[in-house]
Amino acid sequence: MERQKQNIVIAGGGSTYTAGIVTMLLDNYDNFPIASIKLYDNLEERQTRVAKACEIIVKERHPDIVFTYTTDPVEAFKGVDFVMAQLRVGLFAMRELDEKIPFKHGVVGQETCGPGGIAYGLRTIGPLIEIIDYMEKYSPNAWMLNYSNPAAIVAEACRILRPDARVINICDMPVCLEEIFARILGLNSRKDFDVRYYGLNHFGWWTQIRDHQGNDLMPRLMEYVREHGYEEYTPQGQHKESSWLETMRAAKDLYAMDPTKLWNTYLKYYLMAPETVAHSDHDYTRANEIMDRREKDTREECERIVAAGTAKGTWFASNEHAQFIVDLACALAFNTKERFLLIVPNNGAIANFPDDAMVEIPCIVSKDQYEPLSIGKIPTFQKGLMEQQIASEKLAVEAWIEGSYQKLWQSFMMNKSVPSAKIAKEILDDMIEANKEFWPELH
Ligand code: G6P
Ligand code: MN
Repeated sequence: MERQKQNIVIAGGGSTYTAGIVTMLLDNYDNFPIASIKLYDNLEERQTRVAKACEIIVKERHPDIVFTYTTDPVEAFKGVDFVMAQLRVGLFAMRELDEKIPFKHGVVGQETCGPGGIAYGLRTIGPLIEIIDYMEKYSPNAWMLNYSNPAAIVAEACRILRPDARVINICDMPVCLEEIFARILGLNSRKDFDVRYYGLNHFGWWTQIRDHQGNDLMPRLMEYVREHGYEEYTPQGQHKESSWLETMRAAKDLYAMDPTKLWNTYLKYYLMAPETVAHSDHDYTRANEIMDRREKDTREECERIVAAGTAKGTWFASNEHAQFIVDLACALAFNTKERFLLIVPNNGAIANFPDDAMVEIPCIVSKDQYEPLSIGKIPTFQKGLMEQQIASEKLAVEAWIEGSYQKLWQSFMMNKSVPSAKIAKEILDDMIEANKEFWPELH
């Protein structure tokens, strides 16, 4: 049967990732045919710059696709099949504060982990719920593929506030790391193997990696990671920049703690917190790196394309992140029954973990549904870490809903990256001041 053409809106159209996502949609046109692509953002100027370049890219490659951009939610969310959501509330200026405020108190400053991630979560819940509501109102049969960070907190907010919405929360870190695993193994891509994995978002472990013949690839991978971590096989791109390389290297030290699994790199912010603080530049963080590079380069490339009137020779390209999103959309639309790591309610998948926790686990995705795989019981070490972390995430969402200062303080304190109640409170008070424009009032 011929595949029906899909209508897409990219929410957060002004993002540095948009051109790559659009390129990926065009690259996959044969598998995932498209009738229209819309960009939606509430920041008109930022979006227009990206949109004008994307307009040229689309026109040159697929003039049949209707490409538009808007700041009007009705226009944006009407008549779509998929919402691809990539919000960055407060932009990189606020990310800079998420990273720098904790450092000032000797605590890890990171976009999605620790107090910075919680602060970002409290900024993002409201705007995300708003776009879910637009989608449900104007395109009730659409799916939202949400890769807005901090995914763990955002996913928990979706579970509580919009439990029946057709939203799937995803993260590309496992995808990026699996690409590294494939390179270590000398394989073409991650699609050459199947994985077993469990955890929370940015907080998980691979327990099995097998090729399509069923051969266990873990021993070879582990032998390598034990000595070298992930650094050397990190491909060109964002994770090759200095602050990320340090993280890829740390995989080796994490691995030593439990050498029966492969670790998600983000665990370093919890288990190696003091070392991370010691090794980081507190005045020039990841947000600065991005503002000086990715954001600037993207802006210049958009301007170049618009001035030249052609996208010939552009470096905008799709990547694994974008490929993952399109593959997932394909599965939901065309019943491919592919397996993906998704962030979903546990509901018994991890047998000895609460039903109402949002966990990151493999799911089989088919037409309009996903089916989580059963994980079974997990060991005490992982379970303990995850219980503490999920408590921190849940308290953050409860704090947002109730406007509770106390719960937010507890959320900071529950986070393994924060050493004491006093420091938690000091960071919280600074964060309240910095996020006045974005957070609900706390009492
Ligand atoms: C990984 C994570 C994303 C995160 C990104 C940050 O890909 O999975 O959740 O947003 O890294 O990358 P950046 O280049 O913005 O530091
Ligand atoms: Mn992620």
